[in-house]
Amino acid sequence: MKKRVTFGSRIGVILATVGCAVGLGNIWRFPYMLGVNGGAAFLLIYIGCIIILGLPVMLTEFFIGRHSRKNAAGAFKVMAPGTVWSVIGYNGVLAAFLILGFYFVVAGWTLEYIVQAASGSLNGKSATEFATEFSDFSSSVFRPIMWTVIFIAFTHFVIISGVKNGIERASKVLMPVLFLILIILCVRSVTLPNAEAGLSFLFNPDFSKINSSVILSGMGQAFFSLSVGMGCLITYSSYFGKETNLQRTALEVTVLDSLVALLAGVIIFPAVFSFGIEPTAGPELVFITLPNVFSQLPFGSLWSFIFYVLLALAALTSTISLHEVATAYVHEEYHMIRSRAALIVSLDTVVFAVISSLSLGILKEYTIFGLTFFDFLDYVTAKIMLPFGGMLICIFVGTRVDRKILKAELTNEGTVPFYFFNTYSFFMKYIAPVAIGLVFLNELGLINLITSQFK
Ligand code: PHE
Repeated sequence: MKKRVTFGSRIGVILATVGCAVGLGNIWRFPYMLGVNGGAAFLLIYIGCIIILGLPVMLTEFFIGRHSRKNAAGAFKVMAPGTVWSVIGYNGVLAAFLILGFYFVVAGWTLEYIVQAASGSLNGKSATEFATEFSDFSSSVFRPIMWTVIFIAFTHFVIISGVKNGIERASKVLMPVLFLILIILCVRSVTLPNAEAGLSFLFNPDFSKINSSVILSGMGQAFFSLSVGMGCLITYSSYFGKETNLQRTALEVTVLDSLVALLAGVIIFPAVFSFGIEPTAGPELVFITLPNVFSQLPFGSLWSFIFYVLLALAALTSTISLHEVATAYVHEEYHMIRSRAALIVSLDTVVFAVISSLSLGILKEYTIFGLTFFDFLDYVTAKIMLPFGGMLICIFVGTRVDRKILKAELTNEGTVPFYFFNTYSFFMKYIAPVAIGLVFLNELGLINLITSQFK
């Protein structure tokens, strides 16, 4: 049998997985969600979901991936042949396509901002000008689509150059630099006038803001940001070596990912309040806020240029991982050469991405359940498919996998201790699936319906 390619080093494993997790989800989606969901109360729910749901599901995905050494759908065919469990994999592969459908559009926006920063046209504008320019740009036809297609082409190129050279090498350099620049921006932002109002919005919870939709959004954000629930981490961990410490990797990735989101919050909200921007602005929040911060820095154009390059690269390490889920599936399950599988995936996502970009402009009137195509893709994936996938992953491993096998894999055959194995397995088996199920029922209004019967 051909040996499956693996990541080359421990640091490579961590960085590639962090690269998959850290992306637009942390820097673009997290502040936008926090803003529309009432601030600090959302943060608490998000962090709660990261700990109670995200971490156990991540570890469980690592188990499945390294144990089966297959793509997201193939893994279930190996571990539970002839059963319906492979639906988890199909849910994941479909989620990858759908996420790419809107993610590539936002990734394309970052390229526009790189060019604007380089040409100095972000200089000397007012907060209102930044906002109108963004909305003119994102609702236009040609430019956003052009950038989106260019971004898809970049992703395609890395995917066809293979696992070790492409994914690992890129992540190794980019992630640490991104961290550094975020810290510099934090310092600038918290020293802006009226920064306290932003920090209080971010950290001082108003519990009356919590309702079923805020809870669902917090849970969705946790899954989206950690890239769990759709087999991405199954695919990545299938490339882990047998000596990779799965527990430590899961913990490190979770902590780093949450830290980047928090840093993004600390950069965005002081600036939002300082420049009088609405925190509920939605998907454009980051794009209309950050240029104001840069314009307050000496050598602003230079910083903004570096920042947008890094944001684009962080997005790239995530689009690579999403693309890889779909490509690995087509390549392995349809026995097609990798480059052809990748091409099919790229062309499909071009179609989705073009429609979702246009849905912010000329196709705005065409909605699905009242959402534009862009918002619809975001909603079904983050708030439904990923938590649903996560729930099934837990039920699958909780009911179908022998505890001894699970423990052996997670402890590298007993060579690394797992002190909290019982706690983990309790959370994975009972808490996570029940909690996710309850959030779904709550959002559907069913819990209200049932309790109202007893009043
Ligand atoms: N977690 C990535 C981000 O935060 C997005 C992603 C979701 C990547 C699901 C892979 C799978 O940007």
